[in-house]
Amino acid sequence: MTETLNITTTQIAESRLTGTDFSNLPFGKVFSDHMFIAEYENGEWTNLQVLPFGPIMMSPAISALHYGQAIFEGMKAYRQADGKISVFRGDKNFERFNKSAVRMAMPTIPQDIFKAGIAALIEIDEKWVPNQDGYSLYLRPVMFATDPYLGVKASDKYTFAILTTPTGPYYSKPLKVKIETEFTRADEGGVGFAKTAGNYARSIFPFAEAAKEGFDQLIWTDASTHEYIEEAGTANLIFVIDGKLVTPSVRSTVLDGVTRDTIIHLAKAAGIEVEERRISIKEVIEGIENGRLTDAFAAGTAATVTPIGQISYEGKLYTLTDPATRTVSQGIAKTLNDIRYGLVPDENGWNWVL
Ligand code: COI
Repeated sequence: MTETLNITTTQIAESRLTGTDFSNLPFGKVFSDHMFIAEYENGEWTNLQVLPFGPIMMSPAISALHYGQAIFEGMKAYRQADGKISVFRGDKNFERFNKSAVRMAMPTIPQDIFKAGIAALIEIDEKWVPNQDGYSLYLRPVMFATDPYLGVKASDKYTFAILTTPTGPYYSKPLKVKIETEFTRADEGGVGFAKTAGNYARSIFPFAEAAKEGFDQLIWTDASTHEYIEEAGTANLIFVIDGKLVTPSVRSTVLDGVTRDTIIHLAKAAGIEVEERRISIKEVIEGIENGRLTDAFAAGTAATVTPIGQISYEGKLYTLTDPATRTVSQGIAKTLNDIRYGLVPDENGWNWVL
């Protein structure tokens, strides 16, 4: 594949692998030796390259910096039990990347370039795929507008890059979250369903305020009434109420999470009833109080399956069931990991084995 697409490779002079402590891999801080870059100009993707990870030259006038035409994805490559490396549900991430591109008036990326970039990077940086349980090589495809032009319009030029970073889970303990009812992450008709930079930018201030009060994350609510739960910004949200798996339906304000979708499939296959619908804050709080809500977790590529331990609403802190007793999320998380690490058959064809 790499030959047909003509990817130019420049090897790093000296690998940083031996100086990397694989027992200390905070999310997104340690990058592998190489990155993949492609450029879009005159209506086509050109100049496909694998090159040492590092700074790239950019004009300070590029429109991504001023107007936010920037999208990304989050995917993971796992070292399987037999030593092979596989990328989990890459096809779904690829589809979502292009959905985000269309919404942000950016060019789509052809699947062969997306896949060949990942394959070439993993081939050259194979040793960067961790082999500890719960660890993986996080892949971050990103595209941004590079016209050095201050007029507000779709850029004519773009850069597509793939960065890779060996990592463990984004969260290391059950989450203490706050239901956010003042600020909003996304509004109808906006870009909430797209994985675009601005959605994350607008969440940073409210999250920083909540972090000062000791919260690990926010639960975003709908923009018009603040009565319905949407997502967590870094992950989707899933609850178990009356034994059913209940999750906010995907809409223009909620990201169509790949882990969320995978969990829905696995739950149905395990005979658990699944409801994708609107969930009110009232239902969640009452469920905690009357014991009908028995499990709650964040689900995402980076977050994996992270239990929610406590939820704050209007200044009152509610403690959920002990995460150690939560059989539904633990069972699903185990099945999910077993598939990703090749410990059980991949019946749905989710692993792209390289
Ligand atoms: C991912 O789960 O891959 C994400 O993109 C979330 C990220 C903002 C940490």
